[in-house]
Amino acid sequence: MKVPAALAVLAAIPLATAAPGGPGGGPHGPKNKEPGLDVLAKRAGLLYFGTAIDNVVLNNTKYVSIAYNRSEFGQVTPSNGQKWLFTEPSRGVFNFTDGDEIVKASIKAGQMRRCHNFVWHSQLPEWVEKGNFTKKELTSILENHIKHVGKYYYDACYAWDVVNEAFNEDGTYRETVWYKTIGPEYIELAFKFARKYTSKHTRLYYNDYNIETVNNKSTRVAELVKDFKRRNIPIDGVGLQAHYTTGRSPSYEAQMKTIKMFNDLRVEVALTELDVRMPSLPETPEMVAQQATDYANAVKACKDSKDCVGVTVWDFWDPVSWVPYTFPGQGNACLWDEKFNKKPAYYAIADVLRE
Ligand code: XIL
Repeated sequence: MKVPAALAVLAAIPLATAAPGGPGGGPHGPKNKEPGLDVLAKRAGLLYFGTAIDNVVLNNTKYVSIAYNRSEFGQVTPSNGQKWLFTEPSRGVFNFTDGDEIVKASIKAGQMRRCHNFVWHSQLPEWVEKGNFTKKELTSILENHIKHVGKYYYDACYAWDVVNEAFNEDGTYRETVWYKTIGPEYIELAFKFARKYTSKHTRLYYNDYNIETVNNKSTRVAELVKDFKRRNIPIDGVGLQAHYTTGRSPSYEAQMKTIKMFNDLRVEVALTELDVRMPSLPETPEMVAQQATDYANAVKACKDSKDCVGVTVWDFWDPVSWVPYTFPGQGNACLWDEKFNKKPAYYAIADVLRE
């Protein structure tokens, strides 16, 4: 059983507010007395249920009231504000405004944070991408970035996604400016710098998509973890982004198997960016039902695994989801619809966490 002592105490508290009867809260309880997803997740032995939050909607009071509601979300990830493009837009000039807006509000709300990310090929400013640096220069740029951002958020993050999306689908290295200039060792350098410049409690994660089943890419990530453990390079976790499509999401069993593959290598796992998009719009009632099943399977796999610490959805509100921008024609991937109604997927997750 993975419930830490403090949480075990919490889990023993009787569920005075848990009204039977599903969505409506039953005849006895008004909806707002229902325990939220984080409350249910903690009772189920997880550390948190969380969400990504984006700066662009922080003027929407309804959005804000849900985002920082600790009963729903015990953890937040800034969707963009801690990425290189925003934190070091020009060389040596650091900016924490967007990150702080979310980090500070979440501290006030008593939520945990996953911080995202130190090294990625995307949302990287041109000065890095097109700087034509030597290996030595780019290594020192990498260290300086992690030093400033890592020290600034020193112990504010439960976890950092140290390296994001370093591999191709076939398990080969993605040909990024990092790989091409520094070589494959940029990954271990990033983890060493992250260990050096963040609090010793910060969990250091490798994070990627399409590694939720056992396949060429996830097996390659497992090799990386094994190699790091053997050579004492710090790594504490693997983040499965879990960007899924309704009806094509990995099964409960497949996700269990993958999480176990990583846990067996002595790293924890988290579902870091869960969303389940409709493959086409408008959605049908069948898609809505399937989306609920897919969300529930993912959360259940995390809950039932030995060391899957929590689930983060990649935003909870359809209008701010990244999906329609990235996959034109697809969407409705979140747990709340545009009118802020909770979808069947929300209740399916709550049911799985109550089991
Ligand atoms: C996305 C953000 O949600 C968008 O707002 C932004 O325009 C692009 O990036 N994988 C990741 C996240 O690791 O950082 C991405 O976030 C979604 C895919």
